[in-house]
Amino acid sequence: MVYRQTPARLLAVALVSSTAMMAQAASQYTLVDNFNASNFFNEFTFFSEADPTSGYVVYLDAATANQRSLAGYSEGGIFLGVDYENVTDISVAGRASIRVESKKMYNRGLFVADIAHMPAGVTDDDSCGLWPAYWTKGPKWLDDGEIDIIEGINNMSENAVTLHTQAPCVLDNTGAVDTTFVKRPDCSGGVGCLAQSKSDNNYGARFNAAGGGIYVHEWTDDAITAWFFSHSQPIPDSLSGSPNSSSSTLTLDTTNFGTPLAKFSSSQDCSMKGKFNNHNIVFNTDFCGGWAGVDWHLYPPCLQRAKTCEEWVANNPSYFETAYWLINSVKVYQPVDAPAAKREDKHTLHFTA
Ligand SMILES: *[C@@H]1O[C@H](CO)[C@@H](O)[C@H](O)[C@H]1NC(C)=O
Ligand SMILES: *[C@@H]1O[C@H](CO)[C@@H](O)[C@H](O)[C@H]1NC(C)=O
Ligand SMILES: *[C@@H]1O[C@H](CO)[C@@H](O)[C@H](O)[C@H]1NC(C)=O
Ligand SMILES: *[C@@H]1O[C@H](CO)[C@@H](O)[C@H](O)[C@H]1NC(C)=O
Repeated sequence: MVYRQTPARLLAVALVSSTAMMAQAASQYTLVDNFNASNFFNEFTFFSEADPTSGYVVYLDAATANQRSLAGYSEGGIFLGVDYENVTDISVAGRASIRVESKKMYNRGLFVADIAHMPAGVTDDDSCGLWPAYWTKGPKWLDDGEIDIIEGINNMSENAVTLHTQAPCVLDNTGAVDTTFVKRPDCSGGVGCLAQSKSDNNYGARFNAAGGGIYVHEWTDDAITAWFFSHSQPIPDSLSGSPNSSSSTLTLDTTNFGTPLAKFSSSQDCSMKGKFNNHNIVFNTDFCGGWAGVDWHLYPPCLQRAKTCEEWVANNPSYFETAYWLINSVKVYQPVDAPAAKREDKHTLHFTA
């Protein structure tokens, strides 16, 4: 197999020769998409099928959601709410809510989600029954992987960044802040690998009390890395002043972001390149189902309120008045030096065997 061997040897040289260039390029990104109150609903579709995770939820289509004032532009951002007025019949599918998915699919890149408010009760205990998430996933679960940037259930008060892949894939969290610990290193399957953070402002009621914040995640062939910047604290200049809205290109330098909240690096058995493909961006607010509902009994403040998650969610709409997303914008960046452009350079390399 001469054909196989030649590119492999070429590649080894290419990697060495371009290390410096790649290291510099890796943190330089150009803005390619800016989803905000001018265009969000043109760029995202409403998922209105039965919930794949068996939640006590009815995801509304765009027309119904907008007519009920549960999705639309508000306060300069994107509002995605749930029904907080009506008791639901326990025998129906569930409480009305929203799940939206980006039309575009991405492979790698830098994603900057500026979120003013996330679905939560007024207190952590008032969040019982909720299962909100900001995440990305490929068309074929689980072959194409899933990246959960924000996700939690019931009375949780701290975020966990989680990956889901096909086996084998065992990752650690080297390079992240000390306070984040890996609750489960095995990324395979429905539980996934969880980087559990310790924070008083990155999830739920306390995220909202702090005015929300900016979640940034970088997806390369080498790692998936997430940062969080609360709006109650200084935000790196590159994220606060710029990206300036009228500017169509902008370079961001991730090295200014400081130590990340979570970092999963490719390992011998698990390369980001093979495990994550063609991801859509998703925001949704689920109730109960395969996580919040199944684990209801593990959350004492929730169990105290009702025997089952469904019973609580069906009968207590007013607790969900604050269970809405208010998203300022989601910006997607791609590397300044796209991999396709690099192929040309490799062909011009000379090497001596
Ligand atoms: C409550 O139900 C009524 C009747 O279906 C509907 O018109 C109203 O929009 C619902 N409220 C919310 C907040 O969804
Ligand atoms: C939920 O509330 C209980 C009781 O207050 C507390 O012990 C537990 O840590 C909370 N769970 C989470 C995940 O915050
Ligand atoms: C919103 O995004 C559009 C399209 O990318 C952009 O032209 C506009 O400047 C943005 N507006 C704000 C306020 O950022
Ligand atoms: C925004 O970016 C444009 C184009 O790069 C620039 O001309 C303009 O001065 C910037 N505005 C602000 C407020 O930084």
